[in-house]
Amino acid sequence: MNYRHIYHAGNFADCMKHTLLVSLLQHFLRKDSPFVVLDTHAGIGRYDLESPEAEKTGEYHDGIGKLWAEAPDSPLTPWLELVRKAGGPRFYPGSPLLASLMLRPQDQLICCEKHPVDKRALYRLFAGQPNISVHERDAYESLRALLPPKTARRGLVLIDPPFEEPGEFDRLAQALQTIHTRFAAGMIAVWYPIKHRTPVRQFHTNVEQAGYRNVLVAELLMRPPHNPDALNGAGLLVIKPPYGFAEQAKAQLNRLKTALGAFEAIVSELVPE
Ligand SMILES: C[S@@+](CC[C@H](N)C(=O)[O-])C[C@H]1O[C@@H](n2cnc3c(N)ncnc32)[C@H](O)[C@@H]1O
Repeated sequence: MNYRHIYHAGNFADCMKHTLLVSLLQHFLRKDSPFVVLDTHAGIGRYDLESPEAEKTGEYHDGIGKLWAEAPDSPLTPWLELVRKAGGPRFYPGSPLLASLMLRPQDQLICCEKHPVDKRALYRLFAGQPNISVHERDAYESLRALLPPKTARRGLVLIDPPFEEPGEFDRLAQALQTIHTRFAAGMIAVWYPIKHRTPVRQFHTNVEQAGYRNVLVAELLMRPPHNPDALNGAGLLVIKPPYGFAEQAKAQLNRLKTALGAFEAIVSELVPE
C-alpha cells in the first residue's frame, strides 16, 4: 500500500468528488429519520496543504486553490462552507470529515481505512464522537461485515479506492453486487479515475448489465482522455441518486469546468429508474 492521499488532497478530482458528496448527503437531511454513511476508503480525514507532501506535487493549486474567491451564490458554496469550517484554506477536509460535519445526533458515520498509520490519524481526528467509528480493515471485506447497517434504513456507501492495484474496476463491480444484495435501499457513490476511456466504458457496461436501476454518471475531464498514464479526468457513478441531484451535479461540474479551466463536464443517466 504505497498510496498516500496527502499528495493529491484538494486536487480537481477531490473537489469534484467532495462537492457532489455534500449534495448527496444534503438529501438525507430533509427527513428526521437517521442515516448511515459507510466510507470504505476513508483516508486521514484532514489534510495539511502546507505539508511537504502536499507542496511536493502542488496538485491542490489547480483544485481548491482556485476556488477561494467563489461568489456566495456559487453552486459550490455548501461544500466550500464546510471546507472553511474544517480549517480551509490551510486544512482540507476529506470525505469522512465532510460527512462528520453533516451528521445529526441520530446519524452514524462508519469509516474503513486499511493503512495502519492513516487509520490511527483518522481515529484521533474523531476521538470522542460517539456516532463515528473507525475501522482498520479492508474496504471490500467490510461490506459483508458492516452491511446492512444496524442503526438506520437509509444511507450512503462511498467507495473511493486508490486504483493502485490492477483489477480495481472488477473489484468495484463485485462490491456493487454485494452492497445491492445486503443493502438494496442504499445509495452508492463510486469514484473512478479517467485515464483513457476503455476501462471506464467496460465498467459502465458491467453496471448496465448487472440490472441496477437509476444510475447516474458525473465526470469532469481536465483534458481529452488520451494519455493512459495521466489522470485526465475523474468520475462519480451514483446508484439511486436523490431526486434533483442530476441538476445540482450539472451546475456544480459546469462551475468547476469554468473555474478550473477543465475540458469537459458530463452528467448523464447511465440507467433510468
Ligand atoms: C483516494 S484515498 C481516500 C480519500 C478519501 N475518501 C477522501 O475523499 O478524502 C484512498 C484511501 O484508501 C486506503 N486504502 C487502500 N486500499 C484499501 C482497502 N483495500 N481497504 C480500505 N482502505 C484502503 C488508502 O490508504 C487511502 O487512504
